Amino acid sequence: MRHLIDIVDLTEEEINDLIRVANDIIARPSLYAHCMEGKKLASLFFESSTRTRLSFEAAMYELGGHVLGFSDAETSSISKGESLQDTIRVVSGYADIIAMRHPKDGAALAAALASGVPVINAGDGSHNHPTQTLTDLLTIQREKGRLNSMTVGICGDLRYGRTVHSLIEALARYTNMRFILIAPEELRIPEYVLEMLEGSGHAYVQTDDLDAVLGELDILYMTRIQRERFSDPQEYEKLKNSYVLTAERMRAARPDMSVLHPLPRVNEISTDVDDDPRAAYFRQARNGKYIRMALILKLLDEKNSAASLLPRGTEAADRKLCRNMRCIMQAETGLKQYVRGGAVPKCLYCDTRI
Ligand code: NCD
Repeated sequence: MRHLIDIVDLTEEEINDLIRVANDIIARPSLYAHCMEGKKLASLFFESSTRTRLSFEAAMYELGGHVLGFSDAETSSISKGESLQDTIRVVSGYADIIAMRHPKDGAALAAALASGVPVINAGDGSHNHPTQTLTDLLTIQREKGRLNSMTVGICGDLRYGRTVHSLIEALARYTNMRFILIAPEELRIPEYVLEMLEGSGHAYVQTDDLDAVLGELDILYMTRIQRERFSDPQEYEKLKNSYVLTAERMRAARPDMSVLHPLPRVNEISTDVDDDPRAAYFRQARNGKYIRMALILKLLDEKNSAASLLPRGTEAADRKLCRNMRCIMQAETGLKQYVRGGAVPKCLYCDTRI
């Protein structure tokens, strides 16, 4: 069965194909209006969401299918102490495909391991957010006409921003890319993403100065400083106003730069930027529905494929080894510890070194 847990579960060719289908859906929506008749999407959101949840649900309805689920874990039996894997085992008897968001890193993989139907990761803690990345790639392709040969600036919370981790992983597979990672010292990109970027051979720099690099960028990907990921509220207060993109600042940017943001924004893009033709973030949010339609079509089409969730070299350990307190391994009892093979052993759920 095919799931989408991490953006690298899809090959570059498959991503290009999803973008092609999404563009076709935008051009000829009526052709797709009945594709999912009689099928059900379970939309399981253990963490809040507007765009991701509603665009998944709208996507399934526009394909002629149905939706069931919850948008608040307090209304599910998780609040009675049911494990995530038991919840998934049960729901996979009621639905044909699951889209799930959860506050713990690696929760989507834990769910997929227990599921009888395809699972789509709609965000797992501060780890990954592959369908946002598909949305971002469709947007970049539509705005710029290409997915290679670009200088991409990514700005804000690069440490906890799951959209950023998945986006870098995806863009690093295209050619002739340059990355400028703009964040305060405290919110720099995690080690595992940096290692992947180094391995890809693309040039990258880390800086905390947005104004100094703005004029070099083809894409500026802004992100929110995520209050809910901080254990220390004072740390959040200190960092929350790190970057504010204004119309005034945009004067230093290239005339063809595109500004993306996964949204929601708080104050990192001032509303006076919204009317700038370079502001692509509301178009980006719209694109999310179409690429999710393409993804649902693909995964249900490949439901009977023999793809494995455990990459080659994965080993099962007989006890918990992961020390990342945000990992699903810490929250779920009875979950098997898998270790990703390779030079540096890592927890398969959250990619933290063991
Ligand atoms: C992002 C998320 O949930 O990770 N939003 C989204 O899915 N569009 C970014 C964020 O919450 O800041």
